[in-house]
Amino acid sequence: MLNFDFYNPTRIAFGKGKVADIDKLVPPEARVLIIYGGNSAQKNGTLDEVQAALGNRRFELFGGVEPNPTYETMMKAVAQVKSNQLDFLLAVGGGSVIDGTKFVAAAVFAEGDPWEILLQRGANVKKAMPYGTVLTLPATGSEMNDGSVVSRVETASGLPDKLYFSSEHVFPQFSVLDPSKSFTLPPRQLANGVVDAYTHIMEQYLTYPVGARVQDRFAEGLLQTLIEIGPKVLQNPQDYELQANFMWVATLALNGLIGSGVPSDWATHMIGHEITALHGLDHAQTLAIILPTMLSLRRDAKRAKLMQYAERVWHISEGTEDARIEAAIQNTRSFFESLNVPTRLSAYDISADAIPAILSQLESHGMVELGEHKDVTLDKSREVLEASI
Ligand code: NZQ
Ligand code: ZN
Repeated sequence: MLNFDFYNPTRIAFGKGKVADIDKLVPPEARVLIIYGGNSAQKNGTLDEVQAALGNRRFELFGGVEPNPTYETMMKAVAQVKSNQLDFLLAVGGGSVIDGTKFVAAAVFAEGDPWEILLQRGANVKKAMPYGTVLTLPATGSEMNDGSVVSRVETASGLPDKLYFSSEHVFPQFSVLDPSKSFTLPPRQLANGVVDAYTHIMEQYLTYPVGARVQDRFAEGLLQTLIEIGPKVLQNPQDYELQANFMWVATLALNGLIGSGVPSDWATHMIGHEITALHGLDHAQTLAIILPTMLSLRRDAKRAKLMQYAERVWHISEGTEDARIEAAIQNTRSFFESLNVPTRLSAYDISADAIPAILSQLESHGMVELGEHKDVTLDKSREVLEASI
């Protein structure tokens, strides 16, 4: 096992009715900015419930955070916090709202240009505003981690940037996970959530063995749970037990636990971010396209883990090594397709003509040595993209 530091200060309030706990979790004197997305939280009553839980505290609202939150929008929230002297943030939504809130929390204290937070991947974040979250979409794990992905529309190159930062200062203080808040999710977002969580687990599990037995077993258990419940949750989005399991799996998939002491890959995510920035695909759609091809083209370096994945997750224990690996990768692709998330660029009307721009954006963002062995060069990314058409 590799050496590691594990730190996660986020309190989780899990279960039906837990939104009311906000009254205990937010300091009584706090002046709160509630940050939310489009109209889903208004429509399903979550926003009203949150406001009721805040009681007599002073609060203001900031809506309109878009999927793949933008710097341009979030800077308006920063201005509101500063001009009205607010001191606590409350994110109500999915990964985009939570990521956007993380950026606001850090940007309020930024010295100089706040975009530097993204350019320096969070290394320059020295402090952040305290905040909590009410999760409405199981997918990203943002509710219990220190990462955030922010896009910028206006750039010098004219092409949009989608960059991540992380800092231990931007862990949420608390996250309310009430699985019934996901009952209103449309099939596309439920499927996206399953694919995103699945890929998070894979990017930390499917590298090379380091003897981390418990991390491997946790990862395999989380993958198997998603395979079991993913299709069911799409059919029965109002089944509380299914949503509860889905929500907790998605949180555990990226809260640092299974990634401690093991190598991680993230090449699929980094290529996916460029596809979203340039073509507007949902985050999970990009992962469904890239992950199966990425595994297939890097099967030699990942051979031992692919064999373990085939056997323990998909119960494939017969045939040659190559046949087992092929079947496991094919099962992964079919699983995503079974959730109605297409796994080919062409299914989203993206052709080979789009590849040079994706590669040049990867290069300009320094994404030229990706993966657990840093061997996913631009040439390898090109191969993966070409094989993903
Ligand atoms: O904006 P509203 O109206 O709220 O609608 C949202 C949005 O349109 C809707 N939605 C959310 N909860 C709902 C609901 N609709 C009905 N009922 C509900 N209960 O779902 C749509 C998508 O929301 P979004 O927050 O964009 O989705 P997701 O949670 O998948 O977040 C995606 C973002 O997270 C980033 C992605 O790159 C992307 O920008 N990621 C963040 C990570 C992290 N911080 O650790 C890791 C991930 O790999 C990922 O990169
Ligand atoms: Zn993701």
